[in-house]
Amino acid sequence: MIREEFKSQNGIIGKSKEINDLVDIIMQVAQSDISVLIYGESGVGKEIFAKAIHAHSNRSNKQMVSVNCGAIPEGIIESELFGHKKGSFTGAVESRKGYFEIADNSTLFLDEIGELPLTTQVKLLRVLENKEFMKLGAETVVRVDVRIIAATNKDLQKEVDARRFREDLFFRLKAVSLNIPPLRKRKNDIEDLAKHFAKNYCENNKVVCPDFTNGAIEILKNYSWPGNIRELKNTIETAIALNRGKALSEEMFSDLVSDYVDFDEQRQLPVFLRKSPEDADRELMYRALFEIKKDIMELKDLITHRFNVEDFNRSGNGNDVLSIRDLEKDAIVKALDKTKGSKRKAARLLNISERTLYRKLKEYDITE
Ligand SMILES: Nc1ncnc2c1ncn2[C@@H]1O[C@H](COP(=O)(O)OP(=O)(O)OP(=O)(O)O)[C@@H](O)[C@H]1O
Ligand SMILES: [Mg+2]
Repeated sequence: MIREEFKSQNGIIGKSKEINDLVDIIMQVAQSDISVLIYGESGVGKEIFAKAIHAHSNRSNKQMVSVNCGAIPEGIIESELFGHKKGSFTGAVESRKGYFEIADNSTLFLDEIGELPLTTQVKLLRVLENKEFMKLGAETVVRVDVRIIAATNKDLQKEVDARRFREDLFFRLKAVSLNIPPLRKRKNDIEDLAKHFAKNYCENNKVVCPDFTNGAIEILKNYSWPGNIRELKNTIETAIALNRGKALSEEMFSDLVSDYVDFDEQRQLPVFLRKSPEDADRELMYRALFEIKKDIMELKDLITHRFNVEDFNRSGNGNDVLSIRDLEKDAIVKALDKTKGSKRKAARLLNISERTLYRKLKEYDITE
């Protein structure tokens, strides 16, 4: 199969050398059972590449099973992966198949593998080497034939050095490793991606697709896209929604993207034209932290000055507890907003682990 056909079948946009090289590797390894480790920042397209590998494997007649290792609470991760027998722990009222069993003869996509607890890493390595495991509480082994694709936005070598990730598992997983570069390192893809997302959005929403001015494309190419392709997609969709019908102009995008990186009080040249992406990222974090701090101070002020403590006590029906939940929910929504949906950065801003953030997203029913 030729490269371009493979890309169009899998919805992969981009003509940069980086994307072409990745696609060539994927086409070579898709049909084997070799493990693949995909590395890339949030929103670069790790999942789209994992799906492409599975779609062109001999296992494509079964669905790929995707598991986000960072989203499962530590206490139940092993029962989720390997399953359990009825009564194997308090609350195990039924026997349950784990993801390994569900993915038998298919592909298991272990997303955010860097979040896997060390004890689970030992068990995972054992399954990868022996192709068999025991369910929690069971005495017999289950044999499975599962192809593993793992993804991470963490530098796993650093995690290994810091002893947070097992070296033997790292070697086992990265038989083939794919490094998907961030969008700012493949600016040539930006125009095609932007037009693709615009076309899709307009088709889905049955609106006429606007043109991009040359200035608009320049702005998009020069922005650092810390949220990568996901951020680009969201930005294009917002621009079309706000700008219905008119051409998408430089001003439109400088408002949308500079909001994220322009830290100067007066509107000067957008910062991303003058600063390195790393500096822009760092400034973004400072600014987001500063704003969250400001919000917290304001909320504190509101609670101590505006609300009469007696009002809180009198209500006596749990309203005070509810309001703390609301504050927390609000802080999470704001942090995600500031980081354009990057959970890793939002968790860092909130000073909680990514796992806790996922738990809270579920608890508060916050969707992207
Ligand atoms: N090369 C590409 N062509 C077209 N669409 C893409 C491409 N890469 C990514 N996308 C789109 O961008 C969005 C983000 O991609 P994806 O979910 O694969 O990223 P990710 O690296 O898994 O992100 P995260 O680390 O946040 O999980 C998706 O909507 C995906 O379809
Ligand atoms: Mg992903």
